[in-house]
Amino acid sequence: MPNNKVATKIIFGNWKMNPLTLKEAEKLFSLVAKNVSQIKNTDKKMEIVICPPFIYLEALSKIRTSKIKLGAQDAFPGDVGAFTGEVSGEMLSGLGAKYVILGHSEKRAGGETNNEVNKKIKSALAAGLRPVLCMGEGVRDPEHNYFNFVKTELEECLNGLNKNLISKVIIAYEPIWAISSTQNRKDATPADCLEMVIFIRKILSDKFRDVAGGVRIVYGGSVNEKDAGDFLQKGGVDGLLVGKASLDAKKFVEIIKICATLNK
Ligand code: 13P
Repeated sequence: MPNNKVATKIIFGNWKMNPLTLKEAEKLFSLVAKNVSQIKNTDKKMEIVICPPFIYLEALSKIRTSKIKLGAQDAFPGDVGAFTGEVSGEMLSGLGAKYVILGHSEKRAGGETNNEVNKKIKSALAAGLRPVLCMGEGVRDPEHNYFNFVKTELEECLNGLNKNLISKVIIAYEPIWAISSTQNRKDATPADCLEMVIFIRKILSDKFRDVAGGVRIVYGGSVNEKDAGDFLQKGGVDGLLVGKASLDAKKFVEIIKICATLNK
């Protein structure tokens, strides 16, 4: 496998359907921005992206920070049209979003298919957004069928993408069994993560050859300030997709600090 792996680490905060009010959203964002501005090594070597609910994007884009980018949590394929309730990548791009989370397990739980995620990825790329493709198995069965599940998910979601486009996609490995909102969830270990990252890298390299090493892979699943360093150091990933802990400014900033320190 060619070793042209990008060095820039990336930390995402996925706020999901939080917080309840715009005022709280502005307060949380401003607090993170203020604290991050004091952390060294967050400029060139790492990216920080906060993905709030759609309706907060515009207001948050007006809060001055050179270190935090904005992302959305979904984008409908296409630009405009008769699609009630939907928001397109073009619209999000116009609001200042640079990234978009696609195929999150909480969306897939509502019936979203790999084919739909594939269309969303292509459309988001056309709108100039960087898609964050969420994927991962629901269970780790003793027969290891979860590897086949992940392979199919990855191949179907990336179907038809060419070498130029793949390097713009971020893969977020989020085993559903480790996500904080999953009932009876279990902790994933950096070793669980590393095993899957190696597997994903092999699939990418079979499909995209020399450019595959440049695709960033991040881990998400109850990451907190206590285990972030371990996942970054031993999980084989280029960053983290943080859910619950990103709603706590102190915890999220600590995770960013850990990443910046490791990046020195
Ligand atoms: P938690 O960190 O709350 O488990 O969420 C992970 C996730 O789903 C991020 O997209």
